[in-house]
Amino acid sequence: MRILVINGPNLNLLGEREPSVYGDNSLEAINVELSEKAAELGYEIEFFQSNGEGALIDRLHAARLDCAGVILNAGAYTHYSYALRDAIAAIKIPVVEVHLSNVDSREEFRKTSVIAPVCKGSISGFGKQSYMLALYALDNIFGEK
Ligand code: DQA
Repeated sequence: MRILVINGPNLNLLGEREPSVYGDNSLEAINVELSEKAAELGYEIEFFQSNGEGALIDRLHAARLDCAGVILNAGAYTHYSYALRDAIAAIKIPVVEVHLSNVDSREEFRKTSVIAPVCKGSISGFGKQSYMLALYALDNIFGEK
């Protein structure tokens, strides 16, 4: 079973981008930890990052054919991309929304997630552990099937 981790705009700069908000870890370092945990749990894991809305949508479409579930940090697209929302709604595999920061404790515009209603669930505010919690959530879903 393969799990896909998708990171959207500006998340390639993790580690150097606003570390007081997003932490010191690079995306690469987070992905290494996720790979180790996924292997322990018996999953294949794949990573995709893009700053472009279309590329994220294309990868979500492809995931419906080759992945069991998706962990998605859509970055700022979370707050306004109806196209991304529709892509998630179009595929049947579970998508877990994640955010490093607690989006509800920040600016007003971050309190809206247009993707949340079509995601299986949302995890926000636990730093890099948000991704790990999403992995456990998917493991739980698959375990129930
Ligand atoms: C983020 C929160 C978003 O509001 C922001 O635009 C990001 C990162 C997070 O992981 O906390 O790029 O998704």
